[in-house]
Amino acid sequence: MIDLCKEAIAARELSYAPYSNFMVGAALLTKSDKVYHGCNIENAAYSPTICAERTVFSKAISEGEREFTAIAVAGWPKGHSEVSQAFPCGVCRQVMREFCADTFKILVVNDKNGGYTEHTLEELLPHGFGPESLT
Ligand code: THU
Repeated sequence: MIDLCKEAIAARELSYAPYSNFMVGAALLTKSDKVYHGCNIENAAYSPTICAERTVFSKAISEGEREFTAIAVAGWPKGHSEVSQAFPCGVCRQVMREFCADTFKILVVNDKNGGYTEHTLEELLPHGFGPESLT
């Protein structure tokens, strides 16, 4: 089976983060076992910055994907030897809520060799507002 955390660590290398120097990579696994990659992309005007998680969802959704199993996120500051865990921000959790089940797995990398802690979307976004809330 694909090592999603190692894919996220590799995706982090392409991070464009000249303002925060906080480099993040994400790897998203579809139900059909395809992996998409994304990184954070910052902007001189700051607010157009997009997180790695939303980059990877945008890539996958715009390629026609709709069903997802898991995401791995690897984020820590440029040049740091210690890995600090980067949990998805609230906006990214909400984007996941649009497309993923409560059981969707979120793997948060905690070492450079691909160690991680595993969480569910339900755990990170309890009582979320989703598509079914509008019906
Ligand atoms: N960032 C992500 O890409 N994902 C997260 O889950 C948290 C934050 C990015 C946004 C910004 O480029 C940098 O990390 C510092 O906030």
